Amino acid sequence: MAQAEQREAWGTRIGLILAAAGNAIGIGNLLRFPGQAANNGGGAFMIPYLICFFLFGIPMMWVAWAIGRRGGQYNHGSLPGMFDRMWASPLAKYVGVVGLTLPFCFVLYYTYIEAWCLGYAWFSFTGDYLSTPGHAVHMTNYYLEFLGQAPSNSYFSGLTAAMFFMAITLILNLFVLARGVAKGIELLAKVAIPLLFLFCVLMAVRVFTLPGEGTALEGLSFLWTPDFSRLGEFSVWMAAAGQVFFTLSIGFGSLESYASYVRADEDIALTGLTTAATNEFVEVIFGSMIAIPAAAVFFGAGAIERVAAGGTFGIGMISMPEILRSFPYAPFFGTVWFLLLFFAAFTSSVAVSQPVLAFFQDELKATRNRATLWLGVLWALGVIPVILYYKYGFLDELDFWAGTVGLAVCALIEVIIFSWIFGATRGVQELNRGALFHVHAGTFKFVVTFITPVALVIILGGWLYGPVIRDKTLTPKPRVAVWIAEPAQYAGTLEPQEDGVDSGDAAFAKEFEQSLKDLATQAKADGTLKATVQLGADGSVQVTRLSATGSLASAGDPARLERYLRGRGYLYKEKPSPQAAGVAVEQEVPILVTVLYTAWHIWMARAMMIGFTIFFLILINIAWRRRASTAAAEATV
Ligand code: TRP
Repeated sequence: MAQAEQREAWGTRIGLILAAAGNAIGIGNLLRFPGQAANNGGGAFMIPYLICFFLFGIPMMWVAWAIGRRGGQYNHGSLPGMFDRMWASPLAKYVGVVGLTLPFCFVLYYTYIEAWCLGYAWFSFTGDYLSTPGHAVHMTNYYLEFLGQAPSNSYFSGLTAAMFFMAITLILNLFVLARGVAKGIELLAKVAIPLLFLFCVLMAVRVFTLPGEGTALEGLSFLWTPDFSRLGEFSVWMAAAGQVFFTLSIGFGSLESYASYVRADEDIALTGLTTAATNEFVEVIFGSMIAIPAAAVFFGAGAIERVAAGGTFGIGMISMPEILRSFPYAPFFGTVWFLLLFFAAFTSSVAVSQPVLAFFQDELKATRNRATLWLGVLWALGVIPVILYYKYGFLDELDFWAGTVGLAVCALIEVIIFSWIFGATRGVQELNRGALFHVHAGTFKFVVTFITPVALVIILGGWLYGPVIRDKTLTPKPRVAVWIAEPAQYAGTLEPQEDGVDSGDAAFAKEFEQSLKDLATQAKADGTLKATVQLGADGSVQVTRLSATGSLASAGDPARLERYLRGRGYLYKEKPSPQAAGVAVEQEVPILVTVLYTAWHIWMARAMMIGFTIFFLILINIAWRRRASTAAAEATV
């Protein structure tokens, strides 16, 4: 069976560069980066970040392009086939399963986040979360209700909206993928990347011209003031390493898949470097010029830390809309912000889907439409638990294994096969063939043979030691949350305040929370405390009524709950938002304390990942057995 159909190829060089940039530029650049930097020493974060970038960011980028282009010459667009051609062992193709399971699991939750951005773009456009006088929409609850995490239904009833936007996102992705590499992915990138730059500039200009409590420059200086005392912390280095992987899209078979569609002697050294450089430009410049400065303007420089502690999603989905809606043209800028995130994510999600799609096409000989259909079915099935069990930490679990540990595992396997098995000498020749500039062979070989693998082993060790051994993440823990039951009715927030917590009460609060978790663990079930609290004029809370259900049935003690709330620093505060009319204090507010027993769902997430791995292993086995029998049949003819 000689050369059946021709392999797809990128249409133009600029198209290829835009597509590769679209692959790398994503939510990682605009939300994850500012969040990580702000929480890990500000300017000091940039030191480990840059070191990681050079130690394995750039080298792995080149390794990926070299592996990918070579694979494409043998008509392989995913890691199983690529490894098979580099390592003459029957094991090679099975090891390549990491290049199917990991991107697939990644894409399941990444596109869900993409769907939130699309949803929020719509809500901004329609003005859904803009405040009506007297009733400020509570952005935290808005967000958590949208995801089915908050126990109230003030803004969303159930997960219908989330599912709707997920369905649209899925269809858009499949539509682009079905059109193929040049007519789908490349065309998307040609439209989306220029728009993305335009939106970035619009947002940055908007943020830097906002009047407010503080100035945008204070935000920039917060982000860029180095806190060198953090450099000694291993966790800062781990965070920097994780960010470099995530943002450059390395180690997943996704860039490799893109590279498999370039011609045999088309330059990849410069293309790889351009991809990395464009990504860093967007990350370092726009990633730091939008979200954090906006927080500084609106909340004042002193509050940035608190905003940043809200994490990636807190910054993007809660603080940003909260800020933007307080200024003129709120619907416009809200829409621009979320469309920016959506486009960034869209050009990445088609990229992470491509390996599986290529596997169906190249190895199982499916037509493009059929391959897209299979992918779509798996995707739709896989995303259901991600949506339904969000509040049980299902998404976080996938993110830890696929989006954090998995990236490093995959990269380690790849660099070992590339430099130790295939051979760094052949590897660098492969990389430099047709290159517009040559990567220095000696340096590159040394780095990918010794430095990168060692760095990766250290990073993996760090994750094993930190989260797995020290924090015991392998044992799922119940989650406790405190909520105002019907937030739409109150213009203020009930939130823990740092100051003014009595240390005795704080210790009690810890114990109490642990006892709630223990009850849930024993009963293997969720539980709720429903209380009514009287708000004091000073914001203090006093429990007046209490009932308990589920695993917490035995925990209904008003005095203890009150001490717990005090110990956590819960105070009722009126919204600082200008639209919010003051709420009369001295009123009763229903609150809920929920404990979620997460173990079932966490184990379900793990079982799903293992299940998909087995499934893909079987498919690999089928594909190679088939290939062997066709080859044998041809030999006898
Ligand atoms: N780099 C993208 C971002 O910053 C995400 C992404 C796309 C990715 N493809 C990937 C991450 C492959 C890891 C591996 O959002």
